[in-house]
Amino acid sequence: MLFQGKNALVTGSSRGIGRGIALKLAEKGARIAVHYYRNRDAAQATLEKIQELGSNGFLVQADVCWPDEVSRIFQQVRSEFGLLDIFVSNARTGADLL
Ligand SMILES: NC(=O)c1ccc[n+]([C@@H]2O[C@H](COP(=O)([O-])OP(=O)(O)OC[C@H]3O[C@@H](n4cnc5c(N)ncnc54)[C@H](OP(=O)(O)O)[C@@H]3O)[C@@H](O)[C@H]2O)c1
Repeated sequence: MLFQGKNALVTGSSRGIGRGIALKLAEKGARIAVHYYRNRDAAQATLEKIQELGSNGFLVQADVCWPDEVSRIFQQVRSEFGLLDIFVSNARTGADLL
């Protein structure tokens, strides 16, 4: 498998596009740090689907609008994975662009 043994962090993988990316990476063998903001149940559902696909990972919660919280994501990733191979910065910040 293409990403066998690789560690990936996908921000905003509780739902939407991030969830799709996380599942595709897991299908190809990657372990996934499933990041979410408020929807822990949705993040847990993503992680369970990852496990059904034969991979594994963990949940990490943070508001990516705040630098300290982003730092905390990477601290948790370092503690759980050691090394990070793939980082997908997908989460929307909620900033109003229009
Ligand atoms: N969908 C589109 O048509 C489209 C088009 C162009 C670009 N994009 C970009 O693609 C990315 C994903 O879009 P999507 O439609 O899949 O988004 P979505 O379904 O709204 O999902 C947003 C994800 O980001 C998380 N999130 C929201 N606010 C957050 C915050 N303050 N801190 C950390 N995480 C936060 C959510 O976590 P919770 O579940 O915990 O709330 C969720 O996992 C976004 O960056 C979006 O701007 C999307």
